[in-house]
Amino acid sequence: MLDNARISRAMTIKLEDMFDDLPKMPEFVDGIRRAPTRHFTLSPKDTRLALKNALRYIPEKWHQQLAPEFLEELLTRGRIYGYRFRPGGHINGKPIDEYEGNCIEGRAFQVMIDNNLDFDVALYPYELVTYGETGQVCQNWMQYRLIKKYLEVLTREQTLVMESGHPLGLFTSSPQAPRVIITNGLMVGCFDDPENWSRAAALGVSNYGQMTAGGWMYIGPQGIVHGTYSTILNAGRDKLGIPPDQDLAGRLFVTSGIGGMSGAQGKAIEIANGVGIIAEVDYSRIQTRLEQGWISKVIDNPAEAFKIAREHQQKKKSIAIAFYGNVVDLLEYAVNNKIKIDLLSDQTSCHAVYEGGYCPQGISFEERTELLRSGHAGFKEMIDTTLRRHYELVKALVDRGTYFFDYGNSFLKAVFDAGVTEICKNGKNPIDGFIFQSYVEDLMGPILFDYGYGPFRWVCLSGNEEDLKKTDKAAMACIDPERRFQDRDNYIWIRDAAKNKLVVGTKARILYQDAVGRMNIALRFNTMVRDGEIGPVMMGRDHHDTGGTDSPFRETANIKDGSNITADMAIHCYAGNAARGMSLVALHNGGGVGIGNAINGGFGLVLDGSERVDDIIRRAIPWDVMGGVARRAWARNQNSIDTSIQYNDTRKGSDHITIPYIADDDMVDELVSEAFAKLKK
Ligand SMILES: NC(=O)c1ccc[n+]([C@@H]2O[C@H](COP(=O)([O-])OP(=O)(O)OC[C@H]3O[C@@H](n4cnc5c(N)ncnc54)[C@H](O)[C@@H]3O)[C@@H](O)[C@H]2O)c1
Repeated sequence: MLDNARISRAMTIKLEDMFDDLPKMPEFVDGIRRAPTRHFTLSPKDTRLALKNALRYIPEKWHQQLAPEFLEELLTRGRIYGYRFRPGGHINGKPIDEYEGNCIEGRAFQVMIDNNLDFDVALYPYELVTYGETGQVCQNWMQYRLIKKYLEVLTREQTLVMESGHPLGLFTSSPQAPRVIITNGLMVGCFDDPENWSRAAALGVSNYGQMTAGGWMYIGPQGIVHGTYSTILNAGRDKLGIPPDQDLAGRLFVTSGIGGMSGAQGKAIEIANGVGIIAEVDYSRIQTRLEQGWISKVIDNPAEAFKIAREHQQKKKSIAIAFYGNVVDLLEYAVNNKIKIDLLSDQTSCHAVYEGGYCPQGISFEERTELLRSGHAGFKEMIDTTLRRHYELVKALVDRGTYFFDYGNSFLKAVFDAGVTEICKNGKNPIDGFIFQSYVEDLMGPILFDYGYGPFRWVCLSGNEEDLKKTDKAAMACIDPERRFQDRDNYIWIRDAAKNKLVVGTKARILYQDAVGRMNIALRFNTMVRDGEIGPVMMGRDHHDTGGTDSPFRETANIKDGSNITADMAIHCYAGNAARGMSLVALHNGGGVGIGNAINGGFGLVLDGSERVDDIIRRAIPWDVMGGVARRAWARNQNSIDTSIQYNDTRKGSDHITIPYIADDDMVDELVSEAFAKLKK
């Protein structure tokens, strides 16, 4: 017979041991952004289930008091967050020595989690949302408390298992195994859609991890500044004919979104020396980047915004202008007034288009929040109408010579879902891609991912600024700027990184590198830790990378052998990293493009200066990258084939990639045409 006293006695890690009394409701600090209410849609039966699910964390003595409180949270906010269990005040990633733990990894992951929830870093810190409108560290504050406790007791002989924010428990493993293994939002195939997932999230059984939110590896908007800088710079070279040694001086980039990740666009355009106008409907987000210096000016009038942009273009001076308003209004003005835009994109949260990610035209941000809360019947149609108009405007600008690219926010898919089938290459469905290119398909795939260049990152766990300077310098010394133009860009990036003041939150750095570059830098850092030059370092990467993510509308958009709809690569990457002993491995559904649209994974590796970690670096980092390059090569991507040929040569006797033979197009065409002609007869 089950009784709660027996259950309590069976556990040594539990909430009641952390508090003498039920903790008081923390005060909500004014000015800290709150997540919009996720519209409540559960049936009475499911509501009972959600309540019982949340009470699983709570000792019986508090059920009477917390059940109505949790129900109120569910009815009014659409989720049970368990606000009462949030630690009061400002959470931030502190120096590792300030955390308790039985192993360095347990302490290191506490730094990372707290950084993901920092008021300065997180989008909706009270709702545990780090970025991308819905990307959460875990589902609720009860989980947060338990995770922290588990990380404190975790030893080198154990692995913490995290299922969609829920700490399932500690299980015996070995020092060679990951210390933490995470999945977020994974669904069984026939239920793998936003509706079923939303119900699961409201029931408290699934978490949207985005990428580095639920993978605990977010490093603030800096994480995407480098990628955005490379994307727009290469768009300029490839589409506007700018020579490889020049920048975007005098060129206009128009886009939208000044949120968690999209907030990087202003900084990136300034580093690339161009002129940017970025539309944003939420003034508080503009304010954040203005204070940070990543935006230089706010204007709420399109004519004025384009006038100032033009003046800067003429003087070849860089500026990032925030247009406070709807992007569709901004583009209407550009089309009606024949404004020349060189590069055009969008970074509203279209992966969660009906959940608050995209604001319809004609209403304010505050009005959209109210419509979202009340579940207004016409809200979806307003969004669809705006998306269709947005598409028409993009099309008009492209017809006049603008280069438009989808910047990984599922914009093209959202337009298709809003009823525009002509956006598909085949005019019917997205299986063959869209008429406009995604940035990976056109730029990042062939120029970076196919070589293995991807967003490698590290956090100096000491919290010491000096450590960051030393690691920047050491990383720079590992790059040969003469090898390829990509290396020159990366060299310049790291050379100027400190000057560009990119750090928000922990002392972290992003740097695009290929397999060998990442391995050499990690080995160099681990030696520095061993020699006492720096404190321990967390090494990781964005899931948005060469090998970690299967996403036909984004990371694998330039896979053209039909395997773009499969997810074998991401799963192998995750499993291979676990087998090779990364400290943390994470696998998520959705990422930047929404539930059912991607499977994505990442890792964390704590550099503690040991030779054990040297071995993991040598085994795991080349695999993490080259698994992706090998798959891209098998899809007949030319630059990956070249990279794989070189790899087989330099790693003879240790690694070996299967490389495709290339069939003659004419021979295949002729054969198939003849066969089909016969079939018709
Ligand atoms: N390309 C990449 O590498 C990459 C990386 C991370 C995220 N993403 C994707 O980019 C999108 C944005 O990410 P984020 O973290 O910045 O999300 P976010 O929700 O924090 O920011 C999006 C911003 O767009 C604004 N917005 C919404 N509708 C608007 C409209 N019609 N006009 C003007 N502004 C509007 C919102 O107010 C919000 O501030 C997401 O879909 C995310 O998945 C892409």
